[in-house]
Amino acid sequence: MAESTNPASLHEYSQLVRSVMEARLEGRTPLAFTHTYGCQGNVSDGERINGMLAEMGFDFTDSPEKADFILYNTCAVREHAEDRVFGNVGALKNIKRRNPNLIIALCGCMVQQEKIANKIYSSYPHVNLVFGTHVINRFPELLYKTLTGGKRVFELSQADNSICEDMPVRRDGNIKAWLPIMYGCDNFCTYCIVPHVRGRERSRDAANILQEARELIAAGYKDITLLGQNVNSYAVKNAVSSDGEEWNFPKLLRAIDEIDGDYTLRFMTSHPKDCTAELLTAMAECKHTAHHLHLPVQCGSNRVLKAMNRRYTREKYLELVKLARKKMPDLSLTSDIIVGFPGETYEEFCETLDLIREVKFTSLFTFIYSPREGTPAAKMEDPVSHEEKARWMGELLKLQESISAERCASMIGTRQRVLVENVDSDGMLACRTGGNVIVKCEGDASLTGTFAECEITSARNWILGGKIL
Ligand code: 5AD
Ligand code: SF4
Repeated sequence: MAESTNPASLHEYSQLVRSVMEARLEGRTPLAFTHTYGCQGNVSDGERINGMLAEMGFDFTDSPEKADFILYNTCAVREHAEDRVFGNVGALKNIKRRNPNLIIALCGCMVQQEKIANKIYSSYPHVNLVFGTHVINRFPELLYKTLTGGKRVFELSQADNSICEDMPVRRDGNIKAWLPIMYGCDNFCTYCIVPHVRGRERSRDAANILQEARELIAAGYKDITLLGQNVNSYAVKNAVSSDGEEWNFPKLLRAIDEIDGDYTLRFMTSHPKDCTAELLTAMAECKHTAHHLHLPVQCGSNRVLKAMNRRYTREKYLELVKLARKKMPDLSLTSDIIVGFPGETYEEFCETLDLIREVKFTSLFTFIYSPREGTPAAKMEDPVSHEEKARWMGELLKLQESISAERCASMIGTRQRVLVENVDSDGMLACRTGGNVIVKCEGDASLTGTFAECEITSARNWILGGKIL
């Protein structure tokens, strides 16, 4: 497992920032506005950044106008996410004009790309601090340098791939928690920027993960999701942890499952090429694991899968689904689909529709292919127009809507164990099944954060209505 670093300086720099801010604001509590884009991995990083800000003495605000510090934690997976960040950062110019002491920072996957960092440097001079995905644990130090050095700080070095275990965390809620078990990705799917901006795969020490899981469960978290770009390859590169034991993902799942408590355990993302029968058996046998598997297929054509470097075939994927459903007949399957990979023909896209029809996913995350500079796919011929791809997407969404509606309708009359997540603006309880389907129930707000049994009484598209029993 990657060696953990434990820089005492993180906390020392936090105290230094605290003193500088106290002097700057004459004792007023500094306010931070932070916003995270993108995947759960980024959300989890954002929670650590907020933890460090709290340690540095910051309170949080929802209003950029009121903030002394603004940070965007960015995503690079599609161009659209980057455009939104540029738009938002551009708009901060006016706020900075009114409040010249405001510190503006950018971090995350988008700024790890050299071209983007250069563009920010030359075209967005009101941005004070930019730091990449490899140096998050140095955030207090970098903020201190920004506050005291009199110049802009850009730190985008690709560190030694170690894992810092010392960052404080400020989680967004008190019911659901993200628990990172590994970082980076070694798969190099040809369309994907993640391996380029997040570096090589590295797994956290199992002892640290188990410790964090115990703390979350003791603190009353009810829904814990283990996170990694490819959780199935947990500990594959270095199977031995500091406790001398050999680990793999099914073993980790079983070890967490042993922790007593009332909670649901999930994980994402599973790469089909590494999803084993051993894992499916562990899932079926563990008492806390939700029978929900997010298994991105991306597309249904073997030629396109090969061009994507996914390293499985349509047949292998369908076999895996069959095996998973044999072990867990109530399994809820979700997936990611890319429409319009370079060179994909309409006939090949129809193979994706066929696969969707066959598997009948609970829900899908769907994306029109977005070229990412520096990836092999960005250099491939891409003759199909965006309008045409959007039409294909429309077809796909219509199909999935009818499948979701059919699946939901078939649940009417069944009993489900749900987690009551919150009270919606209409006063209804927003609940979630183990299979990750939302159920809206009438009920008492005091049930929030508890598991309840409910009977499904209605289905409107993919939203279920229920009655707490
Ligand atoms: N274009 C469109 N979708 C992409 N994804 C990753 N890279 C791209 C891209 N360049 C999608 C994949 C992945 C999900 C997180 O984002 O479907 O599983
Ligand atoms: Fe990107 Fe593929 Fe890695 Fe997922 S597995 S992060 S799609 S390269």
